[in-house]
Amino acid sequence: MQTAVTHPNTTPPSPDVLVIGGGLIGLVTAWRAAVRGLSAAVADPAPGGGAARVAAGMLAAVSELHYGEQTLLGLNLASARRYPAFVDELEEATGQTVGHRRCGTLAVALDADDRAHLRDLHALQTRSGLESQWLTGRECRRLEPMLAPGVRGGLRVDGDHQVDPRRLASALATACERSGVAFHRSRAVRLTVDGGRAAGAELADGTRVPAGQVVLAAGSWSGRLDGVPDEVLPPVRPVKGQVLRLRLPEMPAGSPPFLSRTVRAVVRGGPLYLVPRENGELVVGATSEELGWDTTVTAGGVYELLRDAHELVPGITELPLVETCAGLRPGSPDNAPMLGPTALPGLHLATGHFRNGVLLTPVTGDAMAEVLATGLLPEEARPFSPARFSPAAPGPERTRAPQEQPV
Ligand code: GLY
Repeated sequence: MQTAVTHPNTTPPSPDVLVIGGGLIGLVTAWRAAVRGLSAAVADPAPGGGAARVAAGMLAAVSELHYGEQTLLGLNLASARRYPAFVDELEEATGQTVGHRRCGTLAVALDADDRAHLRDLHALQTRSGLESQWLTGRECRRLEPMLAPGVRGGLRVDGDHQVDPRRLASALATACERSGVAFHRSRAVRLTVDGGRAAGAELADGTRVPAGQVVLAAGSWSGRLDGVPDEVLPPVRPVKGQVLRLRLPEMPAGSPPFLSRTVRAVVRGGPLYLVPRENGELVVGATSEELGWDTTVTAGGVYELLRDAHELVPGITELPLVETCAGLRPGSPDNAPMLGPTALPGLHLATGHFRNGVLLTPVTGDAMAEVLATGLLPEEARPFSPARFSPAAPGPERTRAPQEQPV
């Protein structure tokens, strides 16, 4: 049964833009396009689902900096700067709050190797002009008394905040509806190409949605849509993440909170984070597994997260475990997103955001709306053109964005 929700007198049957995928990236693209005056539709059986249901929502441009990702850092910082105004506008437009918490982050080291790794990260952050402060173990515990006594030092990053991705997705869906975006609650199964141009999509329920332009924003599934020519299909792959949700204790009046900021560490080579939400949830994540489309929550995944989180904050084993879940990050060959026009006229990509989908939501929405409205990708988004993966791109480095060059 077709369950398209249309808004009378707002969205024509053939919208200017059809967005395939109603996760954070698809929704923000449709909303910002509608704000720019374009008529838009979204095809997704369950808008607001996908990785947004699982993600912890760290806005960690500085604490998640990696060697070789300098260009991505520029986009991450641009999006982080945009977050406060973006949240204000979204909350104003919808009357919903999205759990944007300006609490900062503390990255800690549990042993000498972690400490050396964090020292290197601190040096890289400083060279990149970013603000972070080295703390001794004792200073870390003074900030977060629940930390394990063995913490050897840490990095305080006061500019890395958090948002609640589930509430963000819900608000974006509302913002879309209020801006007249039509929702087709069915999966796109085939891109329609007409006269050498993307012209819409065919949905699993049999609906055909013609559109002036199409944006493929289906996360990990973006590389699997029939009808997209091989040379244009985005090279995204699913990277599984398992995540736990615990319930924070009510602290007696006057006592410090269980955790007052995001706490993260690298434990046994894998990143671990604890994100305390204002609604009393503590998100613990995440595994990183290259297992194809599998989204099983495994005993081993839960065990490892709890074991490592317990090493960091021993008191967590007293907390109620309220949810376990797993999702798929859309990984790309250079860990950076693909934004903007493809070699097939009328078809754009907004996918491959990998670990940074929540952080990159505002800048992606603005970049996509700009290119859809004017045909021009803004300067800051140009390094992320899908053309960098095109077979026609020159040289052996064609599958790497500029940030992949060693620094
Ligand atoms: N950005 C956190 C994660 O992907 O696990």
